[in-house]
Formats: sequence, structure tokens, C-alpha cells
Amino acid sequence: MEQSEAKLLESIRLHLMKSRGLDVSGYSSTFVLRSVRKRLGRSGAKDLPDYVRLLLSSEEETTDFVSALSINVTDFFRDEGAFEALSGKVIRPVIRSKVGAGGIVRIWSAGCATGQELYTIAICLDQELRRAGSNENIIGTVTGGDLSKTALAFARKGVYSKEQVKNVPLHILTEYFVEKDGMYEVAEVLRRRVRFVNENLLDEPRSRFFDVVVCRNVLIYFSRPMHDQVVMNLHRSLRPNGYLMLGRTESLVGTPRFHYELLDAENRIFKRKE
Ligand SMILES: C[S@@+](CC[C@H](N)C(=O)[O-])C[C@H]1O[C@@H](n2cnc3c(N)ncnc32)[C@H](O)[C@@H]1O
Repeated sequence: MEQSEAKLLESIRLHLMKSRGLDVSGYSSTFVLRSVRKRLGRSGAKDLPDYVRLLLSSEEETTDFVSALSINVTDFFRDEGAFEALSGKVIRPVIRSKVGAGGIVRIWSAGCATGQELYTIAICLDQELRRAGSNENIIGTVTGGDLSKTALAFARKGVYSKEQVKNVPLHILTEYFVEKDGMYEVAEVLRRRVRFVNENLLDEPRSRFFDVVVCRNVLIYFSRPMHDQVVMNLHRSLRPNGYLMLGRTESLVGTPRFHYELLDAENRIFKRKE
């Protein structure tokens, strides 16, 4: 890569970080450049410097660029190690805090898309509750929310293809899914733990006092003022000292970050301050 190209990529990286809280430094230059080329042709810009100028000055182009990055995908156990961290550093201490007192562990998968993240969390929760012992009288629920009714209908159905479950470890697949005609349906034990809501993260949260909010790979959709609004809505929905988990490329930027304490930088886990 030429030096001038590297410089332009660096300004794109800084722009996405500042305007969207989106950190693309983990992506290869080839990956980012592929989206740049995709957009360059469609935007009317004459060359790379011209396109970068346009990107840096236009909200609309920034949104189109983020979409062109094609990061609106989802998966079971997405990002190696992330859900081990969620289980060990978040769900386990939350359960521990309720031992003796009974009660409910409430988790929100905000922007759950077609359900893979929601069911992954439900599996982690189920395993941690079992680990804590059945006589603790603790109930665990996961609420999946999304703006897209189509995605939610898919999530509610809970039936996935072999390709879609390829990241699910075999012992978990056997325990938490039922194979039917080559498809994998989530087992009853998971269905009992989950519920669904059609919601817009830009609106006032309908539910509060969640112990944990998992909002991964969603903030990328929002421009800076909206990013702040969503992060503050997530804050309102959490109980004091509740946990927030973002996606691996996402960060808290601006004033809202002062309302959270960083717990795990790699897995983007934060704790709500009082
Ligand atoms: C890339 S997917 C992330 C899925 C999952 N959280 C993950 O990390 O694998 C982003 C999801 O956010 C949802 N979304 C986008 N804007 C939203 C909004 N304003 N309110 C609620 N959901 C939204 C989209 O419909 C999409 O399903």
C-alpha cells in the first residue's frame, strides 16, 4: 500500500471512531479498501482522496459506508472468547449477588437480529445457573429486542440451518438443540428463558433494572448524537452496577462513557456507575 493510501485509510479510521464510535483498526486494510471501492463507484467521487473528502463531510455517506462494510451479520458464539468472558465476568457474579436472596437474573440482548446472540446468552445463563446449583431459587430470563420485525419473527421461530450452527460446540448443539430434517431447533429449556420485543433503541427504554445489557454490533448504525442517545438509553435500562457489553469493534465515546466503568477492554464489558 502506498503511503498516501495508508494516510487516507487512517483518516477514515479516525472519522469512523469519532463519528460512530466504530473502531475498524482490527480490520485488514484490504477489507476496508474493498468497501471504499464499492462506495467510490456509487458516490460520484472521482478518486480516493475525493471520496475520503466526501465521507468526512457527509453523515449520509458515512451511513452508506458503514452498511457497505457489511457488518450486519450475526452468529452463535460470535467472537472467540467473548461469551466465556460474559459467563465468567458478568453472569457468574450477577448470580452470586442473588444467592440467598433468590430473585431473577434479567438480561437484555438489544439488537438481537435473528436470535443467534440471544440464544447464545440463554445457553451461557442456563449453564451458569446450573453451576450455581438448583436450590438457589434463581430464575434467569433473556429479552431479545430488535427494530426489525422480520428478524424477530426468525428469532422467535428458533430454527437454524447446519451452516448457521457451525460455530456451536458439538456438546452444546446436542444439549440445547433438536435436530429435525437437517435443521436445528432450539430446545424447550431455552425457549422457556427467552422473550421478544419489537423496539427502537432510540426510544425511551420500556424495561428497566436489567442486570446485564448485551448490545453488540448495533451502535455502528448510529451517527454520533444518536450513538450518545442510545448509550444513555441503555444506561437507563440497567440497574446501578449493572453490566453493559458491546461488540469487539465498538467503543463508548463522548460524555456517556463517564457513566460507565471499563471492566474488560478486549471484550468491551463495562459496568454502570451508580
Ligand atoms: C449487526 S446486527 C447485530 C446482531 C447481534 N447483536 C450480533 O452482534 O451478532 C444489528 C441489529 O441491530 C438492529 N438495529 C438497528 N437499528 C436499531 C434500532 N434503532 N433499534 C433496535 N434495533 C436496531 C438491526 O435490525 C440488526 O438486527
